[in-house]
Amino acid sequence: MGDIQQDTSASRSPEPSLSSRVKDNLQPDKLGEIRAYCYYKQYDPNTNPDGIVALAIAENKLMRNEITQHINDNFLITPWHLTYGEGPVGTAALRKELTSYVNQVFKPYMPVEDYHICMCNGAGNAVHNLAFCVGEPGDGILLSKPLYTGFLSDIEAGAKIKVVQVPMEGVDPASPEAAKKFEETLLESERAGTRIRAILIPNPHNPLGRPYNEEAWIAFLRLCSKYNIHLISDEVYAQSWFPSDDFPKPPLFTSILSLDLEKYINPALVHVIYAMSKDFCANGIRIGCLISPFNPEMISAFKSITGFTRPSQLAEQVWLNLLKDRPYLEDYFPELRRRMADSYAYTTNRFKEYGIPYTAACFSPCLWIDLSRYLEDDSEEAELALAWRLVKAKVWVAMGAIFGSEKHGNYRITFATPREELALGLDRMFEVLDGIRRP
Ligand SMILES: Cc1ncc(COP(=O)(O)O)c(C=O)c1O
Repeated sequence: MGDIQQDTSASRSPEPSLSSRVKDNLQPDKLGEIRAYCYYKQYDPNTNPDGIVALAIAENKLMRNEITQHINDNFLITPWHLTYGEGPVGTAALRKELTSYVNQVFKPYMPVEDYHICMCNGAGNAVHNLAFCVGEPGDGILLSKPLYTGFLSDIEAGAKIKVVQVPMEGVDPASPEAAKKFEETLLESERAGTRIRAILIPNPHNPLGRPYNEEAWIAFLRLCSKYNIHLISDEVYAQSWFPSDDFPKPPLFTSILSLDLEKYINPALVHVIYAMSKDFCANGIRIGCLISPFNPEMISAFKSITGFTRPSQLAEQVWLNLLKDRPYLEDYFPELRRRMADSYAYTTNRFKEYGIPYTAACFSPCLWIDLSRYLEDDSEEAELALAWRLVKAKVWVAMGAIFGSEKHGNYRITFATPREELALGLDRMFEVLDGIRRP
């Protein structure tokens, strides 16, 4: 009695089972090996001065000390923070402050209300959740090349939606002409059996660092309306603009919510993502949200799975403390921009001295550069080999292939890095390039 019967089934594998869903995520990834190598060896002026300078991650490090100070000066938890609080959608207090911030910064055509917002633990997770909501496994979401590499796993790893990459072939992805390219890829993809459910736009663009303007939005809205697909605008860099010699008067940030959407589309198809990570130099806090003002059903759908990706009560409190401190933010953002402008000028001047071409940017902490003339040949292997050579010289830059770059030899570097660390990283990089000495 109570003895476990012997399993006589011949079909049962002796290995612990693993779903095919996650097995898909475990494919060997040559490009990801650099990341795994660098993560634990990163430079820190105090704890690891001999480490690898990480210029590969979109982390704005220019105001970290100030944000840390604000958090430490204002953070006080109470026993209430140890509870589940007000549930996965986010506290009423945070959503109220965020609503007022969004109405000020995004200048929506119709004011956003707090019930249009659902919190989660970062913009990446908002994309992950939305991917679950917009389609079935095997359906597609369109993204233009080059694309922010994190979107690949955000969209594919859980929801099993495919990222369908749109070649731009020289067309600016933030221009109205880009919509035509999206349409061509949509039709091709659907002919091949992948149903397109949405277009995801990073506005401002990562890795190119430029915003979408009203004209471009109208072209994308018309396209999405024509095929009745969702238009998701990831606006995490809304406040991360700065002036430079390249853009003395940077174009204004234009949120998709600032348009009179009804003129072009069923507004229920339009959704926006925002997070604390970028504009507040705080990737590690892990808090973001979906803003979907015209689609209560989408908010409910998102809510139905956001319990798995909810931010902690502590993260909510930290962002709330910042958002409600308006006098602080009035000083913070101009200073963030001043430092970004300074860092961008320093970095681009050094690239100019070396004759290294770059794509002029006016938003985001990153710069897209062209090192193709330093490649052994015109191939992904050569791009990877140069990336490793740089890593061995202790500077980590992100290679273009992980962003689906249409040309070999592009790399993305994060210029919004404290000067000493940035200078060290660039010195190491130029030393490697000097050693290659291509014309
Ligand atoms: C356009 C864009 N969206 C989302 C993310 C991820 O943001 P989070 O850290 O809030 O998940 C990034 C990070 O680089 C990004 O560049």
